[in-house]
Amino acid sequence: MDSPVQTIKDKLDVVTFLKGYLELTPAGKNFKARCPFHNEKTPSFMVSPDRQSWRCFGCGNGGDIFSFIMKYENMEFGEALKVLAEKAGVELRRIQPQEYKAFGLLYELQDEAKKYYIGQLAGADLAKKYLLDRGLKQETIEEFELGWAPNEPEGLAMHLLKKGYDPNDILRAGLIIKTERGMNLDRFRGRIMFPIHNHLGKVVGFTGRILPVFDDGKMGKYVNSPETAIFNKSKLLYGFWKTKNVIRETGRAFMVEGQMDFLMSYQAGVRNAIATSGTALTVDHLITIRRVAEELLLSFDNDEAGWTAGERAISLAESAGLVTKIVSLQGVKDPAELAQKDPGALKTAVDGAEPAFKVLFRRHLPNGRVEVSDLKEMKSLRDLLGRISSISSPVEKDYWVKELSTYTLLSSSLIREEMEKVKPQVSIERTVPAEQAQEPAEQKLSQTDRLIYLLLGDAYIKSKYEELREVEKYFSESYKNILELLKSGKTSSEDKSMDEILNAIILSAKELSPEDFNLTVLRIKEYFQRAERLELSKQIMEQENLGNEDKVKELMEELKKLN
Ligand code: UTP
Ligand code: MN
Repeated sequence: MDSPVQTIKDKLDVVTFLKGYLELTPAGKNFKARCPFHNEKTPSFMVSPDRQSWRCFGCGNGGDIFSFIMKYENMEFGEALKVLAEKAGVELRRIQPQEYKAFGLLYELQDEAKKYYIGQLAGADLAKKYLLDRGLKQETIEEFELGWAPNEPEGLAMHLLKKGYDPNDILRAGLIIKTERGMNLDRFRGRIMFPIHNHLGKVVGFTGRILPVFDDGKMGKYVNSPETAIFNKSKLLYGFWKTKNVIRETGRAFMVEGQMDFLMSYQAGVRNAIATSGTALTVDHLITIRRVAEELLLSFDNDEAGWTAGERAISLAESAGLVTKIVSLQGVKDPAELAQKDPGALKTAVDGAEPAFKVLFRRHLPNGRVEVSDLKEMKSLRDLLGRISSISSPVEKDYWVKELSTYTLLSSSLIREEMEKVKPQVSIERTVPAEQAQEPAEQKLSQTDRLIYLLLGDAYIKSKYEELREVEKYFSESYKNILELLKSGKTSSEDKSMDEILNAIILSAKELSPEDFNLTVLRIKEYFQRAERLELSKQIMEQENLGNEDKVKELMEELKKLN
């Protein structure tokens, strides 16, 4: 039997699949797009229907639908397998029980729990009243599938056991905890349940907010599912499954803290919101955002702790290459509060977001002018310079140097000089390897390899191989093999290294004009003939030294023929 991976790949065409993510335009036998894994203006991301593969010639990434979705959605292999199996209509439970148990069952359990919590909310008037009192509308509650975990020790546990699930799996899914005496206890009790959906809309975990009447102060206000094979807090963004298209279209994301801020913003018509859930903003979050947006709007709690966290987020985001803006909230603690008071005001505040640096200048240097004798002001100035120097775009950096100059009345050159002496605050480049830093495989090719690639790619597109007869003889064994494969209509090889080369040739294939074709053939011939001539001359000299006159004559004849 075929492997599940192959079965899935047979059913999901790479071009159709990638069209769901990228704008593909035809290019010969292939398709091209702008690479989602690095910033580029002209497309170097190629997709081959023949090979069912993709590759970016800008950043060197490549692979099949599995590696694409793993990279794009930040997924582990097992998770990708589950997701793609579902898309392909392949039943993983039947073909690969082990894999199904590892991932599929986890999704199934989260989904069962979600349904249970939704059912419980329907009969829980107190919980419903709490949600409505906080300003959530029934339609938002339904759209985001909110629920209620009753204040019982094993409400969900019993429900799932009755359905035949194994307690060990329920435990593994993070839905119950084991007490010291070995009893099963629901993890979430007396809490409003917010399912956390992954970026494809599947529930992977929960966060539960205590209903105030059940708050004994012993547990946190919010309790989150533990990390599991399908739930990675530092990568997931709450709400992104609903807002990613708007974010992609507008190039702008509004980042808030937590579920309530997200839901209230969304409900107020801010459809490009996202939230972290149970963790501070991480580099992984930013990588996800950078893929779809250029601008990150931040709003944080309007207190000292909120500002500290917010300034860290600004630095991280700026050094990740995102332009940051700040949404200022006047007289309220967070977006949820403002949205409840006045939904229109939240939308206005988001639309009026100001560049982060402008806000930071005002906050740290309220007097504008910097008094050199004022140590606090000098420190603030240096802190700001540290931030500016960690901006990744030189143009943007220069812009803020000038703005700071206008604001403080210090000359730009003085500011630049001072900035030289200040260390950048944080740099994402140093914490994670930038995705574009990977070296494209093609750079390792020699000049002749490149020419041979061109010819083989051209022949592949035209399905015409006769014209290569003149240069074929110069090909190394592997290029000869590849040519044979292509001639017989094959686009893959059992041999791994051969297959790699074939992949690169097919994905980089371009149709050559007759002039370019001739020129390429000429250059290859020249190259190899020069090599041959050099070799002959060397042999002639050797034979002369040995005094083998006949041999020398023979070699001279050969050299003449070549010339
Ligand atoms: P906040 O305490 O600001 O929550 O924490 P909030 O959203 O304003 O809560 P409400 O308005 O009182 O309901 C922000 C986020 O931090 C996480 C949650 O994701 C929360 O939404 N958090 C907070 C926890 O994970 N655990 C906690 O105990 C508290
Ligand atoms: Mn709040």
